Formats: sequence, C-alpha cells, structure tokens
Amino acid sequence: MKVLALNASARKDGNSATMLRHAVEGAKAAGAETTLIHLYDLDYKGCTGCCSCKLLGGKSFGRCAMRDELTPVLEQAIDADALLLASPIYFNDVTGQLRSFLERFWFPAITYEKERKPLYPKRINVGLIFTTNAPAGFYTTFYDNMKQTMTWIIGDTEYVDAAETWQFDDYSKYAASMFDVEARKKRREEVFPEDCKKAYEMGKRLVQGE
Ligand SMILES: Cc1cc2nc3c(=O)[nH]c(=O)nc-3n(C[C@H](O)[C@H](O)[C@H](O)COP(=O)(O)O)c2cc1C
Repeated sequence: MKVLALNASARKDGNSATMLRHAVEGAKAAGAETTLIHLYDLDYKGCTGCCSCKLLGGKSFGRCAMRDELTPVLEQAIDADALLLASPIYFNDVTGQLRSFLERFWFPAITYEKERKPLYPKRINVGLIFTTNAPAGFYTTFYDNMKQTMTWIIGDTEYVDAAETWQFDDYSKYAASMFDVEARKKRREEVFPEDCKKAYEMGKRLVQGE
C-alpha cells in the first residue's frame, strides 16, 4: 500500500509537519510504503481555469494539463492508495500552497456532466491534519466541509487537528501579547503529544482500512 504525505506548511519542523510525521509513522507501522513531500519546496501555481481537463477527446481529459513541479506530485497522488495532507490554518483556510494543490487535484477529477461521478480510476483514502492558533472546535465547520468535498471527489476522509499550537520559540521577542504563554506551553507539553498520537492512529487506520 502506497501512502503519499504532503506537508503544506513552510515550517518543516512546525506543528503541521510534526503531526504529519507521526501519521506517516502510523502508516509505516501498518505496513505502508510512504513518501513525504514538502509542498513549499516546489514551484507551482494554482489552477488557471484552462479546462483542458474537461475537453472531450482531449489528451488531458481527467488530468491537469499544467506542467510544473506539481505535475509529478499530482500523478503520485492519483496513484497512491492513501493520502495524508497537513496544513496550518491561514486566515480561516488551508495555506495557499495546499489550496493550489487541491484546485489541481480536485478540478480534473470532476466534470459538469449531469452525472457528477468523479473520474479518478480508484477511490483514495485521505487523512487530513490541521493546526491552529484558535481554540479546539473553532474550525469544525470548515474541517467538516473540507472532509465532505474530499470524500465526494477523492475517497473516504477523516481528520485530526491541534489547536492553540506553539508558534514562536520565544514569545517575548514577538508582538504577541494576546497569548497566555504559560497556558500555551502547558498545552504544548501535555496536549500536543496527544494530538500527535491521534495523527499516528489515523495514519495506521488509513492503511488498515478500519
Ligand atoms: C499567515 C498566517 C495566518 C494565520 N491565520 C490563522 C487563522 O486564521 N486562524 C488560526 O487559528 N491560526 C492562524 N495562524 C496560526 C497557525 O495556523 C498556527 O500557528 C499553526 O499551528 C502553524 O502551523 P505550522 O507550525 O505547521 O506552520 C496563522 C499563521 C500564519 C503565519
């Protein structure tokens, strides 16, 4: 079983990447062959709306026709048995890097035909990871919406998240007086390891198909 993990945070050792690594370990423990890619290492753009992916008889039908460093990643994603996608929340959404990936992953898989059946050859299980400054529960509607779209277009989807994350090495050096640093530190030490465990279990479940 092939699992592709995409880190959509620029911070390779940040909250999202840390949780993602735990999910990857879970997938490995369940016997998966895993690949981790940092999306911020790649030079690519979001969908340009060329609609070549919907041109009947066209050579890119059902696939993104754009050619850049995301092209092989899209092929790997379509070929994978399961996907792990991790992103911080930026302004109430996933990062632009993940958004651009999703535009080019989702759009070619759907048409405007009356029967709106996704085009990829097989269903792909998806595990989503989100991390936020906001308190737990703040983004549940957003996560549920993302899960719904992903389930429709790609395959069975679940998510885990970490809230009130640790953002700065030293909060006193930044304009960040709104945070209760001691409470954050405690959460980092006590709750974040639990969040990482949940990510590990999700990675395992994704492969075991429970
Ligand atoms: C540009 C930017 C926008 C952000 N917007 C939000 C936001 O809208 N809501 C929120 O809860 N946290 C927001 N955050 C905080 C991050 O989501 C949070 O610190 C996250 O855990 C960072 O993940 P990382 O360590 O993987 O980079 C923002 C951070 C940045 C840098």
